[in-house]
Amino acid sequence: MKQLVPDRPTRVWDPFVRLFHWSLVACVLLNFFVVDDGDAAHVWLGYTATGLVVVRIVWGFIGSPHARFSDFFPTPARLRQHVAGLRSGEREVPVGHNPFGALMMLALMALVLGLGLSGWLLTLDAYWGAEWLEDLHEALASTLITLAGLHAASAIVMGRLERTNLIGAMVTGVKLRRSRQQVR
Ligand code: HEM
Ligand code: HEM
Repeated sequence: MKQLVPDRPTRVWDPFVRLFHWSLVACVLLNFFVVDDGDAAHVWLGYTATGLVVVRIVWGFIGSPHARFSDFFPTPARLRQHVAGLRSGEREVPVGHNPFGALMMLALMALVLGLGLSGWLLTLDAYWGAEWLEDLHEALASTLITLAGLHAASAIVMGRLERTNLIGAMVTGVKLRRSRQQVR
């Protein structure tokens, strides 16, 4: 049965998911905007981001109910059902991730893994100075930052449309959908 966010506070994200999210955000943003790519910190922040994603994948099988892939994996059936819901004017808010949000999250995590792998290859003698690999690494990084910007913007917009504290819930773990009367 489909579970929806009720009008009372609901515990959704466990501490690991929240710690994972904001640590990943910090590593990615620092690596892209602050730390120089020749710096040792670049490699360590990059590996930390990669490690966080690997642990999150394991957590997707053994973690709390809404952290599990089985709860939100964007299957074609779930995506179709979500679109049908939107078309019929329904404003249903799933307790966990909505399937389109989940699609974006998987893309973001895949890009981080791609950066970890291409970055590691760049440190090997075999690929030292390989221009195509540097270009690939850079393209993955730019795509990650672009999609992350879209992802953050969607979280802000969807949170407003659905009157749900999506971003606050990633901080406190608790989701709350305000009833219409509470909206100014
Ligand atoms: C480099 C930047 C970012 C990356 C790589 C990223 C990645 C992710 C990932 C992988 C998840 C899934 C969490 C999980 O299930 O473990 C997620 C969820 C989420 N992120 Fe981000 N994120 C970024 C920036 C942001 C920012 C800046 C915001 C706030 C404006 C944000 C808001 C959220 C929210 C609200 C969710 C949960 C959505 C829901 O309730 O379904 N993210 N993000
Ligand atoms: C979140 C993960 C990462 C992000 C966002 C990221 C981003 C970037 C960016 C934007 C550049 C500059 C590209 C250019 O302008 O030429 C770069 C270069 C580089 N990165 Fe990463 N990176 C990440 C992870 C890693 C990892 C894990 C490693 C190594 C283990 C690594 C190794 C390198 C190397 C060696 C370069 C220099 C390549 C060149 O000379 O163009 N990166 N990275």
